[in-house]
Amino acid sequence: MCGIIGATGDEGVLALLLDGLERLEYRGYDSAGVALDYGHDLYRARAATGTGSLADLRKVVENVPAGVTAGIGHTRWATHGHPTETNAHPHLDCSGKVAVVHNGIIENWRELAAKLRETGHVLASDTDTEVFAHLVEEEMASGSSLANAVRSSLREVRGAFALAVIAASEPGTIVAARRVSPLVVGMGDGDNPMGLLASDIPALLGHTRRFWVLDDDQVVELRPGQMRVTTLAGKVVEPTELQVDWDIEAAEKGGYPDFMGKEIHEQPRAVADTLLGRLLADDTIGLDELRITPDDLRDIDKVFIVACGSSYHAGLVAKYAIERWARLPTEIDIASEFRYRDPVLDERTLVVGVSQSGETIDTLQAMSEARQWNAKVLVISNVVDSSMARVADGVLYTHAGPEVGVASTKTHLSQIVALELLALYLAQLRGTLPAADARRLFGKLEELPALIETVLAREDDVAAVAGQFTKTRDFFFLGRHVGFPVALEGALKLKELSYLRAEGYPAGELKHGPIALIEPGAVVVAVATRTRLWEKMMSNIAEVRSRGATVLLVANDGDEETAAEADAVLWVPETEPLFAPVVDVVPLQLFAYHLAALHGLDVDRPRNLAKTVTVE
Ligand code: F6R
Repeated sequence: MCGIIGATGDEGVLALLLDGLERLEYRGYDSAGVALDYGHDLYRARAATGTGSLADLRKVVENVPAGVTAGIGHTRWATHGHPTETNAHPHLDCSGKVAVVHNGIIENWRELAAKLRETGHVLASDTDTEVFAHLVEEEMASGSSLANAVRSSLREVRGAFALAVIAASEPGTIVAARRVSPLVVGMGDGDNPMGLLASDIPALLGHTRRFWVLDDDQVVELRPGQMRVTTLAGKVVEPTELQVDWDIEAAEKGGYPDFMGKEIHEQPRAVADTLLGRLLADDTIGLDELRITPDDLRDIDKVFIVACGSSYHAGLVAKYAIERWARLPTEIDIASEFRYRDPVLDERTLVVGVSQSGETIDTLQAMSEARQWNAKVLVISNVVDSSMARVADGVLYTHAGPEVGVASTKTHLSQIVALELLALYLAQLRGTLPAADARRLFGKLEELPALIETVLAREDDVAAVAGQFTKTRDFFFLGRHVGFPVALEGALKLKELSYLRAEGYPAGELKHGPIALIEPGAVVVAVATRTRLWEKMMSNIAEVRSRGATVLLVANDGDEETAAEADAVLWVPETEPLFAPVVDVVPLQLFAYHLAALHGLDVDRPRNLAKTVTVE
């Protein structure tokens, strides 16, 4: 899981690569590197200093001479081989005349490496990627062009990948390809436009708004002003064009100290945009873009939701909503478990993949598995034309805009909202939602952006509460009903940002074991808003208080009865109980964000994590 970038043109290649790598760092930052083509000569520079890799790479290439005709770059999240400079991309062949950057995994690399060694190749790194440089070297040695050599080499590798290759013998040319992993290509502006490629669109937004998305096993040959896409067999194909209207500003920090802070504050907008145009004047929901017909959806008798991490937590909320409103049995599974447990699916099952990136390999593979059983497959994604959007029968986009901070915030809230819309839409199709209820619920949905704004306006209060817990190392997060996924999400945010132990539990489960851990000094964070099981939640809070726990509660504005049971309170406005997660999770995001800042940690790039997880 890494980010790759490439550019070919007369000038500005190096600056473009470095700026693009900065935008791609959310995909991993164990190391960074570039290979530059000087016309018959390649120059490679790499740095592997974790979060400092790109800054160090910039220093290394500060004084390189002009005359670069093409270049490729890479930012790494290590899978095969330690995050060292030797394992940093780009990787070279034996002669140093072929350079490769790669995102994904070449699964049969060991067997290929053994064969290459037998024929005299010397492999310098422990990575799966390097074999590809040597395969291309072999092919070119027998007279193939770079493009033919890449196509032949691709036929030998198994796995999921996007890769880009340059060769000293073909100045100004980049050949790239993808299978499962993401890759977009574009053309710059002007008379002799640059040929561009990257793992995602924001990395190239400053240079073009017209993109082409490659299908699996398509190969692109880029030269300045020229682009040719072929199949592995060399047949020329017309790629799908995509016009993007995102503003580059939208992908930058906009005055906040970090992306996460900015993205937390963009949540009212993200939720409003996700609702936009979907609540119709006649009190129905319009999801025309869904691509699965109303008749097919009416036929559904079971729903499976598959997702990972924060997206899984959003899916948990949806289970309550779909069962409550649409009266459809709904199961939810962690994607990496789903595909290996023989789920019972058929053509009347709706499988909903939830993924902000649309690229998470576990969710992608779970959806492919579901298709094999003829289930209807829908994806909820924030990225237009992502791999999941291509695999699925239907797509429901969240409109959160690009999210750069590694920890999900605005995309998580937008996912919950999109899933609530789906639940109400299914209810509408099945006739289980009386018009009066629909009207009332639509009104409540429309209020959500303002309620989130109210919570955000109290950020200083949340920061002050966080300040009371700087010495705490262990947190228990408790919730019931839809407060349970909120507790899980609050715990996950704290874990990933502050590196503190934080466990989320359904509060009713506490007495079945975890309560043994409660002793004086334990800190319990509980979601105690007025949702369905508030009274029972208060009993669970009493249980931990009587054992000496310090209690921090998320409570509804003005609810002094709840506040009386707390050592500290995070106040939130009340809403429809099934929509409450959209509001209640916000103070917990802020709590984790400020606690991490108080511990001096980089909230945008927590250690060991990457924004998009494209390996199993
Ligand atoms: C946590 C977080 C991750 C992602 C998970 C799934 O803050 O961001 O847990 O939610 O990796 O990612 P997507 O939604 O892209 O499939």
